[in-house]
Amino acid sequence: MVVGASGEIGAALAVMLAGLGLTPVLVGRDEERLTRVAAACAVESGGGEPAVIRVADVTDRPALVDTMGAVADAGPVAVAVWAAGVFDWAPVQRADPGRWGELLDTNLASAAVFAAAVAPALVAAAPSCLVFIGSGAAHQAFANNAAYVASKHGLAGLAGGTFLDLRDLGVKVSLVSPGLVAAGAGLLSPTGATEPERLLAPADVAAAVRFVVTFPGRGCPTVIRLEPQRTP
Ligand SMILES: NC(=O)c1ccc[n+]([C@@H]2O[C@H](COP(=O)([O-])OP(=O)(O)OC[C@H]3O[C@@H](n4cnc5c(N)ncnc54)[C@H](OP(=O)(O)O)[C@@H]3O)[C@@H](O)[C@H]2O)c1
Repeated sequence: MVVGASGEIGAALAVMLAGLGLTPVLVGRDEERLTRVAAACAVESGGGEPAVIRVADVTDRPALVDTMGAVADAGPVAVAVWAAGVFDWAPVQRADPGRWGELLDTNLASAAVFAAAVAPALVAAAPSCLVFIGSGAAHQAFANNAAYVASKHGLAGLAGGTFLDLRDLGVKVSLVSPGLVAAGAGLLSPTGATEPERLLAPADVAAAVRFVVTFPGRGCPTVIRLEPQRTP
């Protein structure tokens, strides 16, 4: 399952999981983009089970919990990836308070709801794997996006605590933290706008998640940080 599968990083994750022979469940709000991702998964799987689309707004708590319940009822959940996230570029003294509240709701509170909702299914399917897509902002502060930094630091705490709860139940839990990626808000950065080839690609994030998913079950890469090789 990939939450945030309609985004560019989420799409790369879903295609990677299809390539591993899993049946991706694609969660997001934009049905049209999810449909395109499902088509890409079908090509990658070479005739495997078609991807399943679940349209849901993650900030709608009952809808998110219902979605997780329906996914778990449909079959074992071997891998769950949280890739949903929004970004806001503003110094705190000029930030829109409502927008920052929504950002924290989407990036952190909803991730915690998701973790609690999906954990029983992951335990039932163990050995299994839960991955949160963090950010460089999960590990250091940046100016002009304090709420995003706070949300990603919170996500790091969520991932760390969840690992401790689930490790002896056979569930790997990992935070995969990319620096700038040529996707989403990364393309609005100065280098992203002019030389996106200097940034990470969505497929690089998928390669890191693949490493976690396929890592032997006696170990868990709990935190992975990725940076573009060249200074962005
Ligand atoms: N791009 C970068 O440079 C970069 C670097 C580090 C980390 N990240 C992280 O990587 C993740 C994916 O980012 P991206 O660059 O691929 O951005 P993106 O293309 O904007 O994708 C964001 C994803 O989040 C989903 N989403 C947002 N709000 C949602 C909501 N309320 N309900 C359901 N889904 C929601 C979007 O789905 P819908 O539009 O369908 O709702 C979309 O699938 C994010 O967590 C981001 O923080 C990105």
